[in-house]
Amino acid sequence: MPKLKLSGVSKAYGATVALRRGDLEIESGEVHVLIGSNGSGKSTLCKIVAGSVRPDSGEVLLDGKPVAVSGPQASRALGIGIFYQELSLAAHRTVAENICLPDMPVSAGVFVDKVTLEERAARYVRLFEDVAGEGFSADAPVNSLRADQRQLVEIMKALASEAPVLIFDEPTSALDRAQVDRFFEILRDLKKEARAMVFISHRMDEIFAIGDRVTVIRDGETVGTSRIAETDPAAVVRLMVGEQDELAPQTPEPEQARTTTREVLLSVSGLSGPGFVNIGFEVARGEILGFGGLHGQGQSSVLRAIFGAGLVSAGEIMLKGERLAARTPRDAIRRGVAYVSGDRGRDGVIQGRPIIENVTPIHYLRNRLTIARPSALRDKALRALEALHTKFATLSHPINSLSGGNQQKVVIARWLIDRPDILLLDDPTKGIDLSAKADLFALIRKLAEEGMGIVLYSSEDAELLNNADRILVFNGGSVTRELTGADRTRYNLYHAAYEAA
Ligand SMILES: Nc1ncnc2c1ncn2[C@@H]1O[C@H](COP(=O)(O)OP(=O)(O)O)[C@@H](O)[C@H]1O
Ligand SMILES: [Mg+2]
Repeated sequence: MPKLKLSGVSKAYGATVALRRGDLEIESGEVHVLIGSNGSGKSTLCKIVAGSVRPDSGEVLLDGKPVAVSGPQASRALGIGIFYQELSLAAHRTVAENICLPDMPVSAGVFVDKVTLEERAARYVRLFEDVAGEGFSADAPVNSLRADQRQLVEIMKALASEAPVLIFDEPTSALDRAQVDRFFEILRDLKKEARAMVFISHRMDEIFAIGDRVTVIRDGETVGTSRIAETDPAAVVRLMVGEQDELAPQTPEPEQARTTTREVLLSVSGLSGPGFVNIGFEVARGEILGFGGLHGQGQSSVLRAIFGAGLVSAGEIMLKGERLAARTPRDAIRRGVAYVSGDRGRDGVIQGRPIIENVTPIHYLRNRLTIARPSALRDKALRALEALHTKFATLSHPINSLSGGNQQKVVIARWLIDRPDILLLDDPTKGIDLSAKADLFALIRKLAEEGMGIVLYSSEDAELLNNADRILVFNGGSVTRELTGADRTRYNLYHAAYEAA
């Protein structure tokens, strides 16, 4: 009898069906891998087991008996521990306090019993002591730690639950090799203690190193389970891709493939920096170059580095044959480079300010000497916004009065007032609706046809396959594959993205 069983579990968030049909059986003493592309429903499934999301239908059975996981406390009481992908740490508390949350040892009913707390925490801190790196200690506040160290604390917190069922939702995404190896040693020990474990990771090498069985989830449905010993990465990728395999690429061959004159606008060689190594590529006039691969493999860092907003330790960036020497966004902008991020909160929108102020800052940066007449600038702004079908009342309305998609159009319109040569798009459609996406991609293609060179990083594979002329697949900070022409299939993209770097 499986230790944990999910049967026909589903969950919708409004119109988004996150989980259509989740069926999963976890045995005691196994590491059960769950794999699926971004947005396929993995975290939703985990949260249902952890009690932080209530399912719309389906059953959760423990030791063969249906149980009501009515909340996180109920889940803990049932013996389920979880590592949350987005972490569940209290930033101002210490490592030890976080490990012992949520059941803090208290004395006299109210005071935290420091001695017991430290003793209990020390057991888990010790497990990672020699791989945790500088600044890591039981009494360090979590907000002083690096991303990998926080992830280790979340692991320790899950382990400290001592639960018979342990769920790890992408616990290794920020860890280095030595930290992953240590984590795997611990998992192997837990297997001997007959714990039942779920492990989510995108890395094939990890999955095949630690997993006993693997279940593939696609578009909210668990579509198959295999023994790791009886399958291979290619078969797993085929299950992830499903029937739509060998989808013919929909983009036309780029203009330059047919004509002989290919004018290179941007040329990058040997570019290295934090999170990326030895990146080289060219972008020609009229071309949309795609950056693909799993999230966080260096794509955004490379784009930000070209724009002068991120660090570069080696390599060269040439713009229309001239070295881009100065390394600040201001210089990049003056040289005709534009950068649009999907992270409007961080990079894009000037909150609370009128639309006009959100459209015009780049114009002022580029043309510091020639201040345009305000009325002429308003006309330009209006034309740029209309080209994108932006829905707004007047230019004086605050940007916050617009929907996410329309805010993103304002951020893009900002760059169109003065045409850049190179447009860097850093996952530009995050959080915008389908019709806004369609408008954006139609515009991007039009800009390319009018002579811009465009680099598009998208975390959604379909966006890349449908819009990029060529795709560079990033894996572990390097480009591991280039997909051109008829090679631009979902299968090839997944395969390159998910295989070990
Ligand atoms: N709280 C939420 N509100 C609305 N949509 C959500 C929420 N959480 C997840 N989703 C959506 O549900 C789908 C599945 O998400 P998730 O379970 O996080 O996938 P995964 O972990 O496989 O990447 C995605 O389309 C995601 O955008
Ligand atoms: Mg997830």
